[in-house]
Amino acid sequence: MNVEEKKKNTNYGSIFVYCFFCFVLVVEVARFTKPYYNLENLMETEAVVEEGFLGVEQSGILPCNFKRSSSVSVPARSHQKLSSIVRDYKRVRPPSSYCVKFQSYGAMAKMVKDNGDKYESRPFSVGGYNWTFLIYPNKEVPKGSSVSVSLYVRIDNSSFIANRNEVYAGIKFLAYESSKDTYYEYQETEAQRFHLLNQEYGVLSFLLSDYFINEQYGYVTSDGESGLGVDIVVYNPFEQWEYFSNQENIRDPLLDWRLTKFSTRILDSYTSDSFSSGGKDWVLKVYPNGAGPATGNSLSLFLLSASNEKEYVKAKFRVLNQNQTNNVEKQVGGWPNATENGWGIDNLIPLSDIRNATKGFLVDDTLKVQVEILSISKTDSY
Ligand SMILES: *[C@@H]1O[C@H](CO)[C@@H](O)[C@H](O)[C@H]1NC(C)=O
Ligand SMILES: *[C@@H]1O[C@H](CO)[C@@H](O)[C@H](O)[C@H]1NC(C)=O
Ligand SMILES: *[C@@H]1O[C@H](CO)[C@@H](O)[C@H](O)[C@H]1NC(C)=O
Ligand SMILES: *[C@@H]1O[C@H](CO)[C@@H](O)[C@H](O)[C@H]1NC(C)=O
Ligand SMILES: *[C@@H]1O[C@H](CO)[C@@H](O)[C@H](O)[C@H]1NC(C)=O
Repeated sequence: MNVEEKKKNTNYGSIFVYCFFCFVLVVEVARFTKPYYNLENLMETEAVVEEGFLGVEQSGILPCNFKRSSSVSVPARSHQKLSSIVRDYKRVRPPSSYCVKFQSYGAMAKMVKDNGDKYESRPFSVGGYNWTFLIYPNKEVPKGSSVSVSLYVRIDNSSFIANRNEVYAGIKFLAYESSKDTYYEYQETEAQRFHLLNQEYGVLSFLLSDYFINEQYGYVTSDGESGLGVDIVVYNPFEQWEYFSNQENIRDPLLDWRLTKFSTRILDSYTSDSFSSGGKDWVLKVYPNGAGPATGNSLSLFLLSASNEKEYVKAKFRVLNQNQTNNVEKQVGGWPNATENGWGIDNLIPLSDIRNATKGFLVDDTLKVQVEILSISKTDSY
């Protein structure tokens, strides 16, 4: 019995939480779906009329610049509270997700009036989720003002259980303007987040209902038909990513290479056996007579990744002085310059210094070069 009791309690608890969230949701929807209103405006019904528009409406002239029926605007300060920017404009491309065409929008509006006051589309699938398009043809916002059409999309909650438990989707609402063969488009620039407690998103006041009843606005065809549509783009979170880091204190940082019989090396370049350093395999490549701009005057030395990886490497390149005096040392840091030569230095040491026996670089016709790897970047993919 105790268990039963407990279960009941938690049920009440979750119902309360659910209701609370529903309330928050309603408030939020009211606040955000209709940026030109805020709650105060909804409740006070007093509205500031957008300049210029009223004149056009009252004069009975067709508005050439279709504004949403929200000729009602809030004072400037309230705009700063808006969470995202609203964009509306015209386009030729038809709705990408779903479209409802009415033989007579006016007839539909009458039919639903005492029947939930909404038209609910058949479910359709976008991005692996099931959705419904909801059309409320008789909305008065604020109460007593002109009748608007409210448009919403609802995500099927069973989709959440089957997939992730939240979905981000970009939503655009569209109305077919038959007189121009274009679509009027409304969107909030930010994607909407849907989850179990927030299954609907929409715009409270999309356009005046009259636009779909009265042919003069250009939205009703000569046959009396009209169309409303929606674009839904589901943004799935990334599934692949990488982590870039830099390792210092490399294990076995020194690569030593003795170039014997140096004076007999007549090829352009020689490549070493592979070395292991920092858990990776490398080779050294030497140009005894220089490479590129250094040809004929300096020795060039390069470090290559044996597995042809492109990472950031910092290394010191040396030619060892065998008289135990000053080694020649130059530092290189960067991404591999070219797949052919990797990281390297064209003019590591002048050829004249190698040939000058008194300098101590070439002893017994052997040249000793060394690379010390100071750091290697690492990119882990997931
Ligand atoms: C799922 O949606 C249906 C229809 O909108 C609703 O009746 C039901 O209570 C919802 N279930 C949950 C767990 O939210
Ligand atoms: C979408 O609806 C169809 C038909 O009702 C159903 O078979 C399918 O499982 C639903 N998909 C999701 C992701 O809920
Ligand atoms: C890459 O090559 C260019 C041109 O050859 C050179 O100026 C530059 O120093 C090289 N960078 C590295 C890191 O070797
Ligand atoms: C060799 O180097 C010494 C100093 O290290 C210098 O005095 C001498 O002129 C050099 N010889 C040649 C042929 O360049
Ligand atoms: C280096 O050693 C060679 C012989 O091994 C000698 O001739 C030369 O003078 C030495 N040079 C220096 C700079 O000590």
